Amino acid sequence: MSRVTIFLWMLILLPATSYAEVDWNAVPVKKVALFYPGMTSWEYLVGQDHATGGNAVARGEKSCQDCHVKEGRFDIFADDILKGKIRIKSKGISLEPEPPKGITGFKDVDVQAAYDSINLYLRLKWPSPEGASFKDPSLDAQGLSDRVAIQLNGNLRSFSKAGCFMACHNDSAYMPDSPSEDEVSANPFYASQKRKDVRLYAHFTRSRGWSSLKPEQDMEKYLKAGGFMDLWVAGFKGKDVVTSDESIFYDRIKDSSQDLSAQGAWENGFYTLAIQRKLTTQDKMDIQLQEGKGFTVGLALYDNKNGHRKHFVSFPVSVTIGGGQAEITAVKTGEAVAPVN
Ligand code: HEC
Repeated sequence: MSRVTIFLWMLILLPATSYAEVDWNAVPVKKVALFYPGMTSWEYLVGQDHATGGNAVARGEKSCQDCHVKEGRFDIFADDILKGKIRIKSKGISLEPEPPKGITGFKDVDVQAAYDSINLYLRLKWPSPEGASFKDPSLDAQGLSDRVAIQLNGNLRSFSKAGCFMACHNDSAYMPDSPSEDEVSANPFYASQKRKDVRLYAHFTRSRGWSSLKPEQDMEKYLKAGGFMDLWVAGFKGKDVVTSDESIFYDRIKDSSQDLSAQGAWENGFYTLAIQRKLTTQDKMDIQLQEGKGFTVGLALYDNKNGHRKHFVSFPVSVTIGGGQAEITAVKTGEAVAPVN
């Protein structure tokens, strides 16, 4: 055998680590608190309805937790949002006009992160008394299931302060000002995508609402500088775990290259889900990860087969791969790390 052939054989035979082989008992657990936001949108958060929060969020001066976490505890009325008791005063409507059934205002998720020279591994565990999608693979008409959707970005200041909220708008589908299907499909951008709904978009890609897309040449610099959100979705279709590698900029789209894999289960009232992605990929709509580098994630979680806005979300959470200060530190697998109690 030539040396090249031997090398190729080694590449094939070298076992790649996978989430199944990570010793999760040795990886620290970070509890991330999620809450039910109802129709909390970017426009609500930067406007007068948000009182003193409005200017602070618009100027990117403070992050959500600066005002809404006190002594380590959430200070936000999510149970009241869920019950329809918090109102968007300027619109005279509730933040949640159709309270979903079977859930409460808060949900904690246990997050673990690990990496090796090839991959980042994320493991999430959250309580779900019913385990609805795991027990019953028949999805509802719109293809919704119990799942997580993780937005990631390492460059945008507004994302590090406001997380997913910078992509959620009053005129998105299932939100108070969402345009009709006819209006959406008449818009040149959405017509070119053959689309009838407005999905998540980065707030700075528009000048005045969903239909006013800023020209591509002005937005090119954001894309080049990684100013888009990567989006990792993984969820249950019965006992199968289904992933979707997506991104958000002008629009929420499925990436042309699918770079995620995941596995998970539901047991004793808890879902667990481990997601794996290569640190670096060839896709320009993927976040590129690196040891020693930090980034921000926003978690969204769907339980009890609820869909669309009816999810739990986190404030922005800082993550670092290896070194650096952050709320979650991904630890190198294979290295000795202190066991978790
Ligand atoms: C400068 C402080 C400040 C910041 C920063 C801030 N908020 Fe608020 N927020 C407030 C105040 C004050 C209220 C109560 C508004 C009112 O009078 O109804 C509020 C209300 C809310 C509510 C309605 C439910 C409730 O508990 O009253 C939500 C939801 C909310 N904020 C989410 C956010 C999110 C998400 C962010 C980050 C993007 C954020 N806030 C950042 C101060 C802040």
